[in-house]
Amino acid sequence: MKHFISLITLLAVSIGVSGSSPQVDWSKHQWQAPGPHDSRGPCPGMNSLANHGFLPRNGSNITIPIVLDAVLQGFNFQPILLLRSVIKMALLATDNTDNFALEELALHGVLEHDASFSRNDIAIGDNIHFNETVFQTLKNSNPGVDYYNITSAAWVLEQRMAEDTIVNPNLTNTEKEFTIRLTESGFYLGLIGNITTGVAPKNYVQILFEEERLPIAEGWRPSDVPITEDNFPALVAKIKAATNWAPSGPIPEGDISLVPVVSGAGVPI
Ligand code: HEM
Ligand SMILES: *[C@@H]1O[C@H](CO)[C@@H](O)[C@H](O)[C@H]1NC(C)=O
Ligand SMILES: *[C@@H]1O[C@H](CO)[C@@H](O)[C@H](O)[C@H]1NC(C)=O
Ligand SMILES: *[C@@H]1O[C@H](CO)[C@@H](O)[C@H](O)[C@H]1NC(C)=O
Ligand SMILES: *[C@@H]1O[C@H](CO)[C@@H](O)[C@H](O)[C@H]1NC(C)=O
Ligand SMILES: *[C@@H]1O[C@H](CO)[C@@H](O)[C@H](O)[C@H]1NC(C)=O
Ligand SMILES: *[C@@H]1O[C@H](CO)[C@@H](O)[C@H](O)[C@H]1NC(C)=O
Repeated sequence: MKHFISLITLLAVSIGVSGSSPQVDWSKHQWQAPGPHDSRGPCPGMNSLANHGFLPRNGSNITIPIVLDAVLQGFNFQPILLLRSVIKMALLATDNTDNFALEELALHGVLEHDASFSRNDIAIGDNIHFNETVFQTLKNSNPGVDYYNITSAAWVLEQRMAEDTIVNPNLTNTEKEFTIRLTESGFYLGLIGNITTGVAPKNYVQILFEEERLPIAEGWRPSDVPITEDNFPALVAKIKAATNWAPSGPIPEGDISLVPVVSGAGVPI
């Protein structure tokens, strides 16, 4: 059975959210390394939110409202349709009714996919933990300047696909993975960097990936401009327009899709 979570309704639905950055008491949200029994997974954003106590530090029993509140506080990310859909999909990676643990996000084929920026493919081995070798491509992108941007993010998407095709010729790269990887690029550019310009300081992005920490001590703060139905999909569309990377192969039967059901609908986000 196919489960389609259509984002095409995004074009019709507007939540009309506005406002400035929520006030965060950072003394209550200091970074703390996870303990041996805490659950962490393949997402540097969610792991960081847990390491700062916006999500439960144990990384377990996470519900949709808990995530929506955590990303609002930590990233000024409003509960837009794309975000709500991603979290709904997260629940499909667990047997629990209404909550998940961060490590469960690594269930391949739900949200987890091949050709990540900082994790290996499941066919190669560890698809959960940060891997510095895999991360080199993104890390060294946009040489000569101290920021990543739309051009470099678009290149990283292509480059990781090219590298990964060599080590894992069986990798999956359909419209679904295409959409998710574009969204993740939007996360590191727009939530860590500037949501309008898509320019993100390299050191901030590297701290998110390498330390799973929000770079508060280095001067980063959640975006003053709320992340909304307008600016986030617009940034993702710009990254999409800047890349020659394209999906290949059909979406497997039984898979879960972020792709609109209506064909010819344009940008799938
Ligand atoms: C809100 C709910 C979220 C869920 C359920 C989620 C889930 C995931 C999952 C499952 C992956 C693994 C994809 C893969 O590499 O195979 C991932 C990757 C990623 N996530 Fe999240 N994420 C969420 C929010 C965020 C946020 C707020 C950020 C903010 C920075 C973020 C940043 C990223 C990035 C940059 C990647 C790519 C990692 C890589 O390819 O190495 N995510 N996310
Ligand atoms: C994780 O922490 C949350 C919030 O503190 C708590 O409700 C939950 O029971 C904990 N889960 C486990 C498995 O310890
Ligand atoms: C909390 O998480 C633990 C570990 O994943 C799980 O065993 C337990 O059933 C969860 N509690 C609830 C109320 O879902
Ligand atoms: C990191 O990834 C590289 C390239 O796939 C691999 O050779 C290496 O064994 C990985 N390291 C760890 C610790 O998994
Ligand atoms: C991204 O940065 C590079 C290096 O400065 C620059 O050549 C490129 O034009 C920038 N891209 C955008 C969209 O500004
Ligand atoms: C790719 O898939 C084919 C057919 O299932 C299999 O024979 C082959 O071993 C796989 N190759 C790799 C590198 O996993
Ligand atoms: C993003 O960059 C624009 C143009 O440089 C600037 O006006 C704006 O204040 C920046 N926004 C944020 C949230 O940093």
